[in-house]
Amino acid sequence: MSETSPRLRAELDGVPAYKPGKPAAAGGPKAYKLSSNENPYPPLPGVLETALAAAGSFNRYPDLACTALVAEIASRFGVPASHVATGTGSVGVAQQLLQSTAGPGDEVIYAWRSFEAYPIITRISGARPVEVPLTADEGHDLDAMAEAITERTRLIFVCNPNNPTGTVIRRAELERFLDRVPPEVLVVLDEAYREFIRDTEVPDGVELYRERPNVCVLRTFSKAYGLAGLRVGFAIAHEPVAAALRKTAVPFGVSQLAQDAAVASLRAEDELLGRVGSLVAERERVLATLTGQGWTVAETHANFVWLRLGERTLDFAAACEAAGVVIRPFAGEGVRVTIGESEGNDLFLQTAAAFRKEL
Ligand SMILES: Cc1ncc(COP(=O)(O)O)c(C=O)c1O
Repeated sequence: MSETSPRLRAELDGVPAYKPGKPAAAGGPKAYKLSSNENPYPPLPGVLETALAAAGSFNRYPDLACTALVAEIASRFGVPASHVATGTGSVGVAQQLLQSTAGPGDEVIYAWRSFEAYPIITRISGARPVEVPLTADEGHDLDAMAEAITERTRLIFVCNPNNPTGTVIRRAELERFLDRVPPEVLVVLDEAYREFIRDTEVPDGVELYRERPNVCVLRTFSKAYGLAGLRVGFAIAHEPVAAALRKTAVPFGVSQLAQDAAVASLRAEDELLGRVGSLVAERERVLATLTGQGWTVAETHANFVWLRLGERTLDFAAACEAAGVVIRPFAGEGVRVTIGESEGNDLFLQTAAAFRKEL
């Protein structure tokens, strides 16, 4: 066998591996998976039936253009169908946005720490990641991000609420930032957790996109809508960005199961958003309990909480795991804990209370 391996792109050498949230341990006492910001509720019966019906024809390719889903999204958000582009989860769409805008020699700006796929997909594109540290209160430093823009900047991710800290950017601050971004630079408002926001000062990106051709909004069916396993997300963007997304899409990437389940989910939105309301109530309970225990917790607007534990991060994650709760540690920084079933949240809170006493 030859010693020489095929030549691969040098950019891949610097690409960190995506770390998925650890699964809950199989067997033994019940364990709770609070590590991937998933929706703990099982599929709605109607949505499940729709998906199962679609499964009956998976010998056929899906609808390439996701026609019914695009039409449903367009009518739900009051945008032209030509401004809607779907993909294999919103991370798939984010990767298409990079393929459409950036390559070697270009720069991509985002806050750090933020969604861990940003550095991965940026490096894969060949562009240089420009990471702007979060502020002391765990939010985006939009002034520093605006100052980081150069002639080489092609795309800026703004994660609102931010994963993993849960912090939000409010209307006036976001508009001031958008006013500073040159029109040829694409701003991607990643709103994966939009449905969990209750603060009316946080703008809906879809309203901001309407007047701004360089703003693209990313949404997903994975979180509030509970379809993480089906892989479907979408962007709302003006032409020519939306057209570029259609060109860069993996042909037939979104399965018919996912398309039909997403349409059914939009039609069952009231029921699904009712569940989101229960998760928001749980979030508030978890936050209040943590604060009562003496923790300083970032003000979260998503379906997770962030505890900055520094060097105790992995110890805390191990304590949670021993108690039957799997959370998401970022070694040396902190832990992100998804709001799940109340029993799982309670186990996490009990662990947090005991750990706090040791600090
Ligand atoms: C901020 C953010 N954007 C996008 C995604 C991607 O979600 P999906 O690809 O499942 O739509 C996630 C998932 O964790 C996320 O946290």
